[in-house]
This record gives sequence, C-alpha cells and structure tokens, in this order.
Amino acid sequence: MKISVVGTGYVGLVSGTCFAETGVNVACVDIDEKKIENLKNGIIPIYEPGLEDIYKKNVTKGRLQFTTSLKDSIEDAAAVFIAVGTPPDEDGSADLKYVLSVAREIGKYIDHYMVVVTKSTVPVGTAAKVKDAIQGELQKRGADIPFDVASNPEFLKEGSAVEDFLKPDRIVIGTESQNAQKVMSRLYKPFLLNGHPILFMDITSSEMTKYAANSMLATKISFINEIANLCEIVGADVDAVRKGIGSDSRIGNKFIYPGTGYGGSCFPKDVQALIRTADENNYSLNILKAVEAVNYRQKSVLFNKINKHFNGDLKGKKFAMWGLAFKPKTDDMREAPSLVIIDKLLEAGATVVAYDPVAMNECKRIIGDKITYAKDEYDAAIDADALILVTEWPEFRLPNFRVLGKLLKNNVIFDGRNIYDPEEMAEKSYTYYAIGRKI
Ligand code: UGA
Repeated sequence: MKISVVGTGYVGLVSGTCFAETGVNVACVDIDEKKIENLKNGIIPIYEPGLEDIYKKNVTKGRLQFTTSLKDSIEDAAAVFIAVGTPPDEDGSADLKYVLSVAREIGKYIDHYMVVVTKSTVPVGTAAKVKDAIQGELQKRGADIPFDVASNPEFLKEGSAVEDFLKPDRIVIGTESQNAQKVMSRLYKPFLLNGHPILFMDITSSEMTKYAANSMLATKISFINEIANLCEIVGADVDAVRKGIGSDSRIGNKFIYPGTGYGGSCFPKDVQALIRTADENNYSLNILKAVEAVNYRQKSVLFNKINKHFNGDLKGKKFAMWGLAFKPKTDDMREAPSLVIIDKLLEAGATVVAYDPVAMNECKRIIGDKITYAKDEYDAAIDADALILVTEWPEFRLPNFRVLGKLLKNNVIFDGRNIYDPEEMAEKSYTYYAIGRKI
C-alpha cells in the first residue's frame, strides 16, 4: 500500500513516519525545498522524542521518502493526507489557503481513485471545500476521475507525538462512502491492537470533534486556573482541591493542573477558530470566550507575583528563568507563557538569564538576544534576584537546593508549575511562590 502525506510539520512528519512503521510506503511532500533536502539528509526539523529512531529505520528500509513533487507522491497512492498548516487569520479563523492549494494540486494530477484526507485541524466544512477544489480542477482538465474526501483529525500531543500516534486512544474518521471507509480501515488497523476504537462518522461531525476535544481540554485548564486563583484568595490549596475533584471519574485527574496558562500551536488557535465559526453562524460560544479571557489573564499571574514581591521595583533586577518552551519535551515556543513573562520583566527594566534543555535556539530565533541564554540551570541562577520556573522539564524537579541557594542572590522561587514542595522550600529557607497553593 502506498500513501502520500503533504506537509512535513508536526502532524505530517509524525503521521508519515508512523504509517511507514506499519509497512506502508509513504511519500512525504513539502514545497519547502530546504526542508525536503534536509529530511533526505537525515536532518529532522522538529524535536520529538522517538521520532528520529523510526524515521531512520524507515528511511533505511526505503519505506519513507521525501519529495517536493506532489504529482510524483500521489502516483499509485491509495490515499493522500493533507497535513499542511492552517495559521490563524487576523480575525482568529483558520486560514485555508495552503489546504486548498494542495487540493487544487491534487485535482491537477489525480489519475486514479484515491481518498483525499484532511489531517490538519480544519474548520467545519473544509472537506466539502477540498472536494469542490479538486472537482474544479478535474472539470478544467475535462477528466472524470472518482475520488472521495475524508476527515481524519489528529489528536497527538507534542512531546509524546510518536507514542500518541502509535497507540491512539481512538481514531476518528469522517467519510461519506464505503470505499473510503475500507481504505482508512486498512491503514489504521495496525494501530488498533490495544483495543481502542476507530470511530466512523459523518465528515462534519469528525471536523467538529477535533475542535470540541481541544476546546474541552482548554476549558479544563482555564477552569482549574480560575479555581487556583480563588484558592489563594480564600486560603484553600488547589493541590488538595485538584485531587479532591479529580478522583471523581466524571471529572478525571488528568489535565487539571494549574499553571501559567495554556500555550502551544493548538489550544489558543483552535479555541479562537471555534469561537469564530460560531460567530459566523450567529452563535456566541460564551464559555469558550471566557476560557480565552481567563487564559490571557493567567499568563500574567506569575509576573504579578514577582512584581508584588519586589514592591513594583524590578528595575535592574536579574531573573533566572528555568524553561522557555510552552511545555516540556518540545522546543515549540508558540504562544509560550515564558514570552509574556519575559516581555513584562524587560518592560519593567529587569534582565533575564534563561535555560531550557531544547528550546533556546527556537527562543533566540523569535526574540534574539533580548535575554541571556545560560549553559545550564545553575549557570542561569548565578547572582539572580530570584528564580522563575516556567516549564516543568523533568530535570528541574529535583535540583540541588543547597548549590542553588549559594548561586542565587536571594533565595526566592516563583514556581509557575507547582513542582516544588512548599514544606521543603520553607525548611530550606526559600521564599516560595506557586499557583493557588497554601504556603
Ligand atoms: C494538544 C492536545 O492535547 C492534543 O490532543 C492535540 O492533538 C493537539 O493539541 C493538537 O491539536 O494538535 P499540545 O498542544 O501538543 O496538544 O499540548 P498539551 O500537552 O495538550 O498542552 C497544551 C497546553 O496546556 C500546554 O501549555 C500545557 O502546559 C497546558 N496544560 C496542560 C496545563 O496548563 N495544565 C494541564 O493540566 C495540562
């Protein structure tokens, strides 16, 4: 079996590589010649645990190929997955220009029955637009070639993308024909060994499922962040409350950790896009509007604590920042809370020395030398007026507090992820701030 995957970003590259792992021949396509050249030469553009190993294995086996020619990639293919970017427009809606341009390309070159699958997160109604775009090109060619469109949203998380793809909780597929279902079933069967379901549904519901899932998860986070803020005000401890509510299986204990607000390329963008879709249909998604507003406010919570501790005088202060990426195990800086905190600190006249195990280059690419980059977490702490923990990388969990205490000018920690134990902090004579905890 042969497939084409268009777009070598997170979703495309991980999907293509994981499909190859099942024995399928995969051609990954991108218009970015440099990216394809690099991928042909063993250079992977993203950091993702486990990806390099299976990429190398499947390239060596000849099952994973890279090309800039969409035409070549769909030759004999049973399906083509569209996994290109859908950046937000100025108004927050997803920009479909890349998706539709791929669809038109497919329409130009398709010469046998294929399933054209939207894998990028695309608004409700996109598969229909893809279908129209392909049909438009076929008409221009005067060709009558059968094809089907399908929607197959991806639920992988950055940092555990390979694991999530290989062992999915479920696979959602929107189709409108038996043929398309057959092709998709065949492709996904190898991933269903853990007994988790493949859910076939209509295309619109499948497109909606992706946004509803991300919006529900974002809602959980904004909800617990608000509860955490209130806990502080009334003297409760969000850790206890989190456990207290999470043990009710209807609520669940996952994804209710308070912090500095959600970031990344998905939640902020998808929540906004769903609000937009609703607005366009004259319906106001009030809950999601609140989720977004709470998240915006949450990104300032840590800075406000810092500012208050130093009585509003941050001029000339130096801060050590541990973690820059929007979450651990990724170098992704998109919508990272660290960027907001850095901006506010710099604006207040402070300086920042940061360390992140993998995201420093990416951060440099975005904000340049506005901050200093340290060689490790202890180096960052030298002479700092306080330590700010923004991303909960595993290596930050058990630092040597004695060594750290000697390096820092003041033993003050602002923990944006609640990873340290308040009692231990008190024992070790640290002034400790966290999110929503009783200290
Ligand atoms: C998210 C979804 O979890 C995936 O299922 C989905 O496929 C993906 O978006 C996508 O649409 O492509 P991702 O953005 O990679 O995945 O990262 P998450 O692990 O979900 O974290 C998102 C944000 O929420 C991070 O900033 C994280 O720190 C924050 N978060 C997460 C919390 O603040 N508290 C939590 O309890 C969990």
